Amino acid sequence: APVVVAIDGPSGSGKSTVSRAVAARLGLSFLDTGAMYRAMTWWMLANEVDVDDAEAVAVACAKPVIVSGTDAAGPTITVDGQDVSGPIRGPEVTAQVSAVAAVPQVRARLVELQQRCARVAERGIVAEGRDMGSVVFPDATVKIFLTASEAARAGRRAAELRAKGVDEATITAMAADLARRDAADSSRETAPLAQAADAVRVDTSELTLDQVIATIAALVEE
Ligand code: ADP
Ligand code: CDP
Repeated sequence: APVVVAIDGPSGSGKSTVSRAVAARLGLSFLDTGAMYRAMTWWMLANEVDVDDAEAVAVACAKPVIVSGTDAAGPTITVDGQDVSGPIRGPEVTAQVSAVAAVPQVRARLVELQQRCARVAERGIVAEGRDMGSVVFPDATVKIFLTASEAARAGRRAAELRAKGVDEATITAMAADLARRDAADSSRETAPLAQAADAVRVDTSELTLDQVIATIAALVEE
């Protein structure tokens, strides 16, 4: 069976960076499922759907065509053919994505797309998100739960935003939002963020990126 590496964890634990690097190193495809929830949220906001109205979101979520390019060297995400890789990282989408991701119909639709991406991946896939090991790929070859202290995660996000030239007020607001979003993701009814029973926990607080990448690549190659 093709290799499936499932990587879950809270925001800022290193999932995207590490997953992409592991996929590139091992010649596997890469899927950022958070980008799909962000793309769905971007479309809701662009089309003036009230994201706090779960029924409206449930009905509307069938409409956008979301396509994820899974090349680890240059992942892409489009909605109805439009490249949204920039806008989905903005504060508007970040503030609303947890509400959209809590709607079961949204999850059902995106899980289906995620499983399809894995089926068509030539050599296997590294998929990262919140429910890869628990819901989307219960039979994954390897399951990793990446964590880090809240201080480490918030610090990394702040450094990343600062490097992008984002102003300090927005950085402070996004740090507060990170804790709120993790709490929302962990307490929702459908597919809450939680470590799968058979996942290996890796705390990245005191590890360099290279150390984390090497640790996970070794687990996959075992
Ligand atoms: P996630 O996908 O879990 O939200 P990211 O991969 O986006 O996390 O990482 C957030 C930021 O932290 C990035 O700027 C990344 O380079 C940095 N980072 C991730 N892991 C580490 C680590 N172990 N040590 C230092 N910086 C890290
Ligand atoms: O970039 P960051 O790690 O902060 O978040 P992300 O991985 O892009 O995910 C954005 C949001 O999408 C999360 O806060 C969750 O609400 C949702 N998500 C989810 O519910 N399930 C997934 N498999 C991936 C993301």
